[in-house]
Amino acid sequence: MEKWIRWLAVAQILSLAMLLGGRSTVLAKPTEKTAFGKTPDGRNIDLYTLTNKNGMQVAITNFGGIVVRIKVADRHGKSEDVVLGYDSLDGYLSDKAYFGAVVGRYGNRIAQGKFALDGATYTLARNNGENSLHGGIKGFNKAVWEAREGSAIDGPSVELTYTSKDGEEGYPGNLSVKVVYTLTDRNELKIDYSATTDKKTVLNLTNHSYFNLNPSGSDILQHMLMIQADKFTPVDAGLIPTGELRSIAGTPFDFRKLTTIGARIEQDDEQLKLGKGYDHNFVLSKKGNGVELAARVVEPTTGRVLEVFTDQPGVQFYSGNFLDGTARGKSGKVYQRRSAFCLETQHFPDSPNHPKFPTTELKPDEKYHSTTIYKFSAK
Ligand code: GLA
Repeated sequence: MEKWIRWLAVAQILSLAMLLGGRSTVLAKPTEKTAFGKTPDGRNIDLYTLTNKNGMQVAITNFGGIVVRIKVADRHGKSEDVVLGYDSLDGYLSDKAYFGAVVGRYGNRIAQGKFALDGATYTLARNNGENSLHGGIKGFNKAVWEAREGSAIDGPSVELTYTSKDGEEGYPGNLSVKVVYTLTDRNELKIDYSATTDKKTVLNLTNHSYFNLNPSGSDILQHMLMIQADKFTPVDAGLIPTGELRSIAGTPFDFRKLTTIGARIEQDDEQLKLGKGYDHNFVLSKKGNGVELAARVVEPTTGRVLEVFTDQPGVQFYSGNFLDGTARGKSGKVYQRRSAFCLETQHFPDSPNHPKFPTTELKPDEKYHSTTIYKFSAK
């Protein structure tokens, strides 16, 4: 009898502990809105922290639609922030690396900042030598977006909208853009982009998060990468595609099997030299038009795995070659060369000047929609 009572007491303590343990995750509000600072012209900027039922956290600000933080567990359950960025808005106001930002109107480069549509030539803001990069001088990454907490059934979400005016940075058409970030219970950060225009324009939206799946380690050269691509688009000295779709077979661009990023990065290869490392668009081997696996990254020390899914035809693999230790990031951390990588899902760079590349044109009677998913796990 006494044994029974003791057993009952233990069972009660256990169930209370389980209840409290469970409660603490339930208690973390799925979406928390906090003040993040003020722009120089006095606009209030907020930070939306999304938490899923596994305790994974993603923080997003309506300045630039920036992903400020992604906290996710390693194989031992230790949660760490796996993206580069800053502690406060000030860092993002002066940032030149596009940490975590929504990039637009045209992600990546447009040669000479020029393209033609229906016989009219458009001249864009040039901010990368003679070329236009990532939307120009004030791209979507520096815009203040309207934000509201979303109601996605998949998990907590935040919906951002922005209207880019006709002529902004040289692009034609008033473009209404919506970006919805959802943190699912499958530990996915899902990004849904949509847009409409009132005049024919070009559009290439992406997210520029810089990942390091072992943030307390040094660079990302020990991360292992797989990219679902048989071809890439080689570039010239200005990192503009030559137009060729080149086979990756027998080159340091063959990532069809998981390969350490650092294994071939210093090889005597013309394309690696031009990019100062990897800074190239890979042509995804897709089965259809839907959302498919594009890349996988495995970090051996922490066991963290990142999988990228997209409906886009390409992905820019950038090995953080231009990080030079000048940006002081979170907790004063100095971000050195190759201390993070980007996998920017996209249409090919300079598509408006390459009629053979998949088109980036958007017409007034069309609706643009695209989805990219960054899925995290540990093994
Ligand atoms: C992209 C480009 C790089 C670099 C970064 C931002 O990945 O391809 O060349 O400009 O953005 O620093």
